[in-house]
Amino acid sequence: MSPTSTTPAAGVPVRTHSCADLRTDHVGQTVTLTGWVNSYRDHGTGLVFIDLRDRFGITQLVFDREDTTQEILEAADKLRNEDVIAARGPVRVRDGGPNPKLPTGEVEVVVQELVVLNETANPPFLPDDMLDLPNEELRLRHRYIDLRRPSMQKILETRHRVTKIARDYFDEHGFLDVETPILCKSTPEGARDFLVPSRLNPGEWYALPQSPQLFKQILMVSGCDRYMQICRCFRDEDLRADRQPEFSQIDCEMSFVDRPQVMDMMEGFARRLWEKVLGFDPGEFPRITYRDAMERYGIDRPDLRYGLEITDVSAVMAKTDFKVFSGALAKDAEAPAFSAGKGVVKAIRVPGGAAKLTRKITDGYTEFVKLFGAGGVPTTKVKDDGSFETGIAKFIEPVREELTEALGLEPGDSVFFTADSYAVATKAIGELRQKIARDMDLVPETGANPSDPASWKFVWVTDFPMFEYDAETRRFYAMHHPFTAPRSDQIEAFLAADPGDKHAIEHIVSAGYDMVVNGSEIAGGSIRIHSQDVQQKVFQLLGMSDEEAKAKFSFLLDALKFGAPPHGGIAFGLDRLVMHLAGTDNIRDVIAFPKTQTGGDVMCDAPSPVDNEQLKELWVASTWEGDE
Ligand code: AMO
Repeated sequence: MSPTSTTPAAGVPVRTHSCADLRTDHVGQTVTLTGWVNSYRDHGTGLVFIDLRDRFGITQLVFDREDTTQEILEAADKLRNEDVIAARGPVRVRDGGPNPKLPTGEVEVVVQELVVLNETANPPFLPDDMLDLPNEELRLRHRYIDLRRPSMQKILETRHRVTKIARDYFDEHGFLDVETPILCKSTPEGARDFLVPSRLNPGEWYALPQSPQLFKQILMVSGCDRYMQICRCFRDEDLRADRQPEFSQIDCEMSFVDRPQVMDMMEGFARRLWEKVLGFDPGEFPRITYRDAMERYGIDRPDLRYGLEITDVSAVMAKTDFKVFSGALAKDAEAPAFSAGKGVVKAIRVPGGAAKLTRKITDGYTEFVKLFGAGGVPTTKVKDDGSFETGIAKFIEPVREELTEALGLEPGDSVFFTADSYAVATKAIGELRQKIARDMDLVPETGANPSDPASWKFVWVTDFPMFEYDAETRRFYAMHHPFTAPRSDQIEAFLAADPGDKHAIEHIVSAGYDMVVNGSEIAGGSIRIHSQDVQQKVFQLLGMSDEEAKAKFSFLLDALKFGAPPHGGIAFGLDRLVMHLAGTDNIRDVIAFPKTQTGGDVMCDAPSPVDNEQLKELWVASTWEGDE
């Protein structure tokens, strides 16, 4: 390499080390480093410093006006942040004393040869974690610069570690990695499909898989026994902070297993992940039923990092004269407990809430619960003498003793109530519980103390209802997906259920399970139906005619006829796992090229219009030549 050049005559100089490698052991060696100019400092003392960055780290380069030729100094003077360079020279102990912030901070490289491999245009922002983040649209538009940030490189690495650990773990346990089609027939997972028109079959469409659910089940019928795949799933649904239209699953299925066997295997995987990535084994996960989760936390993915448990106070409140409560309790009063439409009153006790939750905060709760269909949130506070203050005090004072006993009330507590149908009151108070936890500062900041076992609360939620009734469309939906088996002790009741008996149907319990950490669902699965009659009954209860079921799923129903083994499985949300392990609450941070909130890729400008010619080939042109 010539002392300075902008076009390396003999090709790109070969680096001898990465920007993370050099230590005092290397002092005296002549090395070549390559990378991006991370920062440039001219101290005016005859020394120019450049921090050179690559994926692995940062090393300080020094241009010493006494030791360096004029030519190199002039080239160095012209360098800008994000230029790509190669630099060669001896390693020396850092003149100004060590920089404890860098692993390479004890040494520096005195540049004697410099090659500018590529000059950068003026970058729209600098990939420096120390600077404020630019807006996300700009970051995504120039994702190549954004991904240069060391924190983003670290996330890419964590994601790679997670998939490597997954493949190793499942390989050790006899799982085969099998790929399944992307162009396929729709599999219902509760979202809208992305559709692809077929050029060779006019008017016909492929669906992109919402998950490989049916393929993995058919692999079990094929005798594969244990399957895993790190697969892409596509769901055209409204986006949230932990949802993407195109996301990845660690998808698994096992044959000849019961529910505890699948759960143990999958728990083993999650524990291995935490151990390898964060350095500790979180231990055995507690297991609670869906009903228990709904009763105590008002949600099927409870955050157990804090208490704030919910209590059903319907029986106590039935004794009051408060119209809001009596009105709610009158709803579908004869229905069995936990029926979606049955009226209930739920309460949450907030220890110390009277002082901490100011009027300004609690005033917002009314609007908040309205988002979930509740009319409002009656509230009270417990005074020093145990009596109640605020609006509804006079109604509940007569049942003070019973309420105090039911909720374990103490002076200084606040209490919030929801009164509505079971479905609405439970949902609203469950959401409110999470909001109160944030307002009471009970939720640690995302990513704080990841290696502290106390930061993680895992739980398995089991025994979900098979079906959920939707009052708007007046029909049942599968709570997980329609291939989930009833719990083994429920099969008879299930087969006997009359499609018109709404209460009987909503009380059938499935063999499903979800893995939850810190209130986030990281995996969901179930034991599957492996007999044709049970599968057909599910389709029937979902309101599907035999013809419709055949048209959509004849391949599955056929496969179930030909020796389907008992089987079950699960899918982990890979992106969500990485979010937790990397300590971010934005799913886009853990995907190299994610979609925006409106489902777009702003870097390559997708989706975008296509030529009418192309549309014609696909038989979907909006105008035809003859029409124009
Ligand atoms: P499910 O629909 O519960 O189950 O999905 C499994 C896991 O995938 C993650 N996930 C998502 N992550 C990001 N963006 C999304 N839009 C998104 N949707 C789901 C969640 C979830 O727990 N076939 C079944 C699995 C099975 O039964 O084995 C399925 O897909 O972490």
